[in-house]
Amino acid sequence: MKSITTPEYSIHFNSTCYTELNTFLKISNFSKIFILVDSNTHNYCLPYFLSQVVTQQDLEIIEIEPGEINKTIDTCAGVWSTLSDGDADRKSLIINLGGGVVTDLGGFVASTFKRGIKFINVPTSLLSMVDASVGGKTGVDLGVLKNQIGVINFSEMVLIDTHFLDTLPQNEMRSGLAEMLKHGLIQDESYWNNMCNLSQHSLADLDQLIYESVIIKKNVVIQDPNENGLRKTLNFGHTIGHAIESYFLSSDKKTTLLHGEAIAIGMVLACYISNKLTGFPLEKLNSITTILSKIYGKIEFLDQDYEPIIELLKFDKKNTHGNINFVLLEDIGVPIIDCKVSNTLILESFNFYNS
Ligand SMILES: NC(=O)c1ccc[n+]([C@@H]2O[C@H](COP(=O)([O-])OP(=O)(O)OC[C@H]3O[C@@H](n4cnc5c(N)ncnc54)[C@H](O)[C@@H]3O)[C@@H](O)[C@H]2O)c1
Repeated sequence: MKSITTPEYSIHFNSTCYTELNTFLKISNFSKIFILVDSNTHNYCLPYFLSQVVTQQDLEIIEIEPGEINKTIDTCAGVWSTLSDGDADRKSLIINLGGGVVTDLGGFVASTFKRGIKFINVPTSLLSMVDASVGGKTGVDLGVLKNQIGVINFSEMVLIDTHFLDTLPQNEMRSGLAEMLKHGLIQDESYWNNMCNLSQHSLADLDQLIYESVIIKKNVVIQDPNENGLRKTLNFGHTIGHAIESYFLSSDKKTTLLHGEAIAIGMVLACYISNKLTGFPLEKLNSITTILSKIYGKIEFLDQDYEPIIELLKFDKKNTHGNINFVLLEDIGVPIIDCKVSNTLILESFNFYNS
């Protein structure tokens, strides 16, 4: 797998990661280097990462609690204080070693500390490798509302070492797969077909599929970094998916859904709505639904869940002038942005999912 370059940063894979990182650290003369981890990546990923880094400088570790409930401004405040107490200045560097929570939050902390210091993303979950660490979106949640606070700002580099996936729990692997499947649905039918046959692939094929997924995302972001048009397509499944994720986060009676699990439901609902509004082929709707429910199972929704979920849709960041904007598909690989969808049709899509 080759390195990928974009105008703002480069993405390196597996063995090239550490050569590139060590050269970068050698020539950059950072005043201090901080590594942000959560307690899981501290245990599972940091020892190996440290064994690969060669630098004369001390590396200071900052640890946060894991999970979406900690992707908050309070956690940021703790990290900002630790940076300040640790004498971080504008020439300091933060290396974010973790899943999407660490890369989103660490990127935001770095982008705002002393009006911005440099950072590097080292994603350790599948989801952060193929999506969260790439493309410059950083930020945190506001209460249960997803990603309401943040900035777009690019890391110096992204280092994707798939060796980290060895310790990632199975449900987190499935969560990451959802974003890879989404990349196929919005951009490339042959990639989608390859992803559907994943169980027949070897681990080496997974590395290649991760690489291709990153290329799909990179190519979209490069054309529309500020999400004025094309980049919105990456939100396919996320309009309802985020609302479902927020609802489950806020409800004591529900188990928390992982990001990708919520997005998988959002994609089934969006395919159904696409079939009704844009003529998305019925046989593809049915095969996508079968494949996604085979991977993710079925989540039970009760009648009383729908209203609060629909209410949460109004916080989606793609909304403008009070309109909820959906990304739909005309076909696999043919997305349409800014589609208006009635609440009746959204309810109908839940009925379809439940059936
Ligand atoms: N910025 C973006 O463009 C973008 C895109 C998609 C998703 N996201 C965000 O990403 C987040 C989800 O990312 P995630 O699924 O990586 O969540 P996460 O960061 O919570 O990681 C999932 C879990 O796996 C653990 N973990 C991570 N790597 C591990 C490893 N190698 N071994 C063992 N455990 C490991 C973590 O500690 C955590 O408990 C959400 O907040 C979502 O909004 C951002």
